[in-house]
Amino acid sequence: MAGKRNPSLDRCVLCASRPSRPRHLTDAAVIDPEGRSDQRDRLREGLSRMRVGIVGVGAIARYYLPALVWHPEVELAVVCDRDPAKARQVPPGVVFVEDLRLVLADRDVDAIVVTLPNDLHHAVCRDALLAGKHVCCEKPLTVDPEDAAELDELAAATGRTLFTAFHRRYNHHALALADRLRHRVPPRRAELTYRELIQEHCDSDAWYLDPARCGGGCVIDNGSNAFDLALWLLGPLRLQAALLEYSATGADQQAIIELDTEAHGTAAITLDWAFHGEDKAIRLEWDDGPGDCVDLLAGFAQFKSSLWHEYRGVVDDFVATALHGRGRQDTGRMVTELVAATYRAGRKTA
Ligand SMILES: NC(=O)c1ccc[n+]([C@@H]2O[C@H](COP(=O)([O-])OP(=O)(O)OC[C@H]3O[C@@H](n4cnc5c(N)ncnc54)[C@H](O)[C@@H]3O)[C@@H](O)[C@H]2O)c1
Repeated sequence: MAGKRNPSLDRCVLCASRPSRPRHLTDAAVIDPEGRSDQRDRLREGLSRMRVGIVGVGAIARYYLPALVWHPEVELAVVCDRDPAKARQVPPGVVFVEDLRLVLADRDVDAIVVTLPNDLHHAVCRDALLAGKHVCCEKPLTVDPEDAAELDELAAATGRTLFTAFHRRYNHHALALADRLRHRVPPRRAELTYRELIQEHCDSDAWYLDPARCGGGCVIDNGSNAFDLALWLLGPLRLQAALLEYSATGADQQAIIELDTEAHGTAAITLDWAFHGEDKAIRLEWDDGPGDCVDLLAGFAQFKSSLWHEYRGVVDDFVATALHGRGRQDTGRMVTELVAATYRAGRKTA
């Protein structure tokens, strides 16, 4: 593969460690004396490490990079961003390329992590699956649920893993709550709150604020994580009603979403993209006995600091699914359907 080596072989800014030797895609010949084997052969033969590429080095890739570097069954093979300045963030010895077609065409890359703006997810995931890669895609899997259905079918047809990264599932507090739920009947009422100031979460390219690139506003952005948490904790959901408030640019800024659960309970999701501060919480109520309430950010006082452990969980689960066939059923498509249903039902209030 043609690509620029990260010139810095000094200490890695992400993991503060120095690799014993630089890693590079052309090292395959050294690792495998027979030369480069087809990735399918290596997977069949019980590959001990999966070669992974990451596409899009923005705000969220910052949390993936150390999780990928640390994972014992991952070799971070290539990092891609169209912005050459992002090469500075690449761990030592890892190839950097600007053209994502180089990543997709490389037969030695087994899997890719897609951390691109939302409107690019569908095409890149589709091309990656067609190229025989396992795919871990940031949420939302796609903007259009029909595209998500196409990706699901493609993953089934190619036998590759399609994994949507919903990082809040791996939050310590959410995991403890899920554990407590196992010993109780389903709750009568669940309330999920997701409030933040979106501008604080944008990198230099403010694509989030452009509904054409984001696919909407707070519903597709934070709503995707909240829907996944609700599906995970409560099971299948049916949309009852939605109330949306829009900004002047046409992006939904606030939403109240009412859902029914299969266990005859109800759930409410409250989203706010214009909240000064950050508030991510889950509250559960039962007819009998005490309720349960978790603040997902408790103990993580620094901005975004919970993401370090959550993205380690994402990478662990993706590797377990792709390499060992373990892990969960992907909810990426279901979430796109709930997002689309919310936009159809949402009554505009501004
Ligand atoms: N930022 C967060 O807190 C957060 C949290 C959870 C999920 N996500 C999801 O992660 C994804 C990425 O979000 P982000 O905040 O990191 O975005 P970002 O804008 O910070 O990063 C996107 C990167 O992709 C690169 N890029 C764009 N088009 C490209 C192309 N054609 N080829 C190669 N590189 C290209 C950009 O240069 C940029 O570096 C989104 O789907 C988002 O919903 C973000």
